[in-house]
Amino acid sequence: MPERISEVTAFLAEVLAPRAPLTVIVDGGDHGAAAAFAVRLAAAFPPSARAWTVDAVLGLSGPAGGRVDSALNVLEPAADRVIVYLRSGPRGARGNGEGERRAQVVIDHDDPEWPVIRHVHPRLADPERWYITESRAFFGARAAGWDKRFGDDMPAYAKAVETAEPCLGDLALDVGCGTGRALPALAAAVGPGGRVLGFDVTPAMLEAARDAGRNGCAGLVLADARRLPLPDGIAGLVFAAGLVQHLPDPEAGLVELARVTRPGGRLMIFHPSGRAALAARHGRAIRPDEPLNEQNLRPLLAAAGWKLVRYEDPDDHFLALAVRGPAADPATSAR
Ligand SMILES: C[S@@+](CC[C@H](N)C(=O)[O-])C[C@H]1O[C@@H](n2cnc3c(N)ncnc32)[C@H](O)[C@@H]1O
Repeated sequence: MPERISEVTAFLAEVLAPRAPLTVIVDGGDHGAAAAFAVRLAAAFPPSARAWTVDAVLGLSGPAGGRVDSALNVLEPAADRVIVYLRSGPRGARGNGEGERRAQVVIDHDDPEWPVIRHVHPRLADPERWYITESRAFFGARAAGWDKRFGDDMPAYAKAVETAEPCLGDLALDVGCGTGRALPALAAAVGPGGRVLGFDVTPAMLEAARDAGRNGCAGLVLADARRLPLPDGIAGLVFAAGLVQHLPDPEAGLVELARVTRPGGRLMIFHPSGRAALAARHGRAIRPDEPLNEQNLRPLLAAAGWKLVRYEDPDDHFLALAVRGPAADPATSAR
């Protein structure tokens, strides 16, 4: 099996090589890691493209009390420059997140043996080329330990399901269900006359859900949230915990969730930590451009056919509840 770093650097080289001449800058919280990654990336380019520069920018970045965390504070993105940001180094020393915000490629480098691409600007590569493989690499590596690490959150999931008020007898979906922590509460809420389906794109997550016996209360389906194998308007509730912020195009994802929900049905976007608390745990600050920021989420939901009716973001949970509007009249929407 190829090393993970070879898979990542080969993909980036393939995407970037046709754009030469170009300077590639590898930046991040851990300068040693950035330098080592830059060397591997440079070696992955075909010899014909090696004329261009692949640099690790050292010394410009660094903790600096959270004010300056990145070379990108002095180097704006440009047409002939691509900035690759490694999430690396101690979490407390990753600065204010500006570096990552301005990078066109972001790589999770917490485990240097298992780097995973978390973002590629769509101008550089269509998400279809990397998103599924890299999501599976990211969540697959975490699946077996997920419940042990986050098991204490189960009551918060039960409370979120209660807040969503599913109807008895409904079909409830948990999209991006992971190990299925919401499934028992969803099954209890819709009752024996209802049905629950959990969808996830990472096989190892569904295996962990099965190992935890959650297939006893719900069907588990390997599927992409952006293309659910369901007819229109079938679900009464869609539960999505920790999903929307991972989608490369959140609006398109919300449109698909609306498609499978009946008019008046509900969407619960949930996380057992608030946005600021979660960002702090990951050693970064919240960013105003995040899709779950209320100012961004409300119009995103509206454009996708949802009305936001409740939004909460204290430290101990994040919750956005939306109601599906009436189905669009194709005759009107075609005009
Ligand atoms: C942060 S985890 C949350 C898991 C679970 N909902 C929980 O709260 O414990 C995100 C989950 O979404 C899944 N995922 C990411 N992108 C997806 C997609 N496009 N379609 C379906 N699942 C996806 C991942 O595999 C992962 O299991």
